[in-house]
Amino acid sequence: MEILAGSKKIKTAVFISGTGSNLKNLIKFSNLKKSPISIDLIISNNSKAKGLIFGKIFNIKKKIINFKNINLAEKKILLELKKNKINFICLAGFMKILSKNFIKNFNGKILNIHPSLLPKFKGLNTHYRAIKNKEKFSGCTVHFVNSKLDSGKIILQKKVRLNKNETPKTLAKKILVEEHKLYPKAILKIFSL
Ligand code: GAR
Repeated sequence: MEILAGSKKIKTAVFISGTGSNLKNLIKFSNLKKSPISIDLIISNNSKAKGLIFGKIFNIKKKIINFKNINLAEKKILLELKKNKINFICLAGFMKILSKNFIKNFNGKILNIHPSLLPKFKGLNTHYRAIKNKEKFSGCTVHFVNSKLDSGKIILQKKVRLNKNETPKTLAKKILVEEHKLYPKAILKIFSL
């Protein structure tokens, strides 16, 4: 990928809405020598997102953006990204849908992690739907973000097997463990390191 010029790490923003376990994991990864990215900004649409604590712990700038007016919200985010010279975006449990226009500004430079084996179970309540559908496997997917929800080019996926007594909660927990391995792997893969 052409944005990996020189030896400096690629300035990255992570967008969150909730717990931020993927954010924490990405920050830890970014601090490794082998990581092509550094995490320089955290964006949250939710002022109560637990994940915001990692901004404090790891001393990373954070910005809370109200999404009541999506146009305005995206304008503010774009400004913030520019100000901080951000060149790459990782969505990590970010529960808002970004507009075509926003995505155009970062074409091919936004990744997302989704808790299903895409193209199965796009959108919300993935674990509930996988169980209800009597799937043998579910899992997680890291993909590029395009203008269609959860439909961009897939980078990596990891399967997990569903147990007989699986609940959305147990499945979410099991998949999250895999998400934490998969996201860094996918980042390494696209920068082919
Ligand atoms: C993760 O399971 C992530 O895949 C999912 O939200 C969770 C966030 O957990 N993302 C989506 O559903 C996106 N549509 P985290 O806040 O602990 O990283």
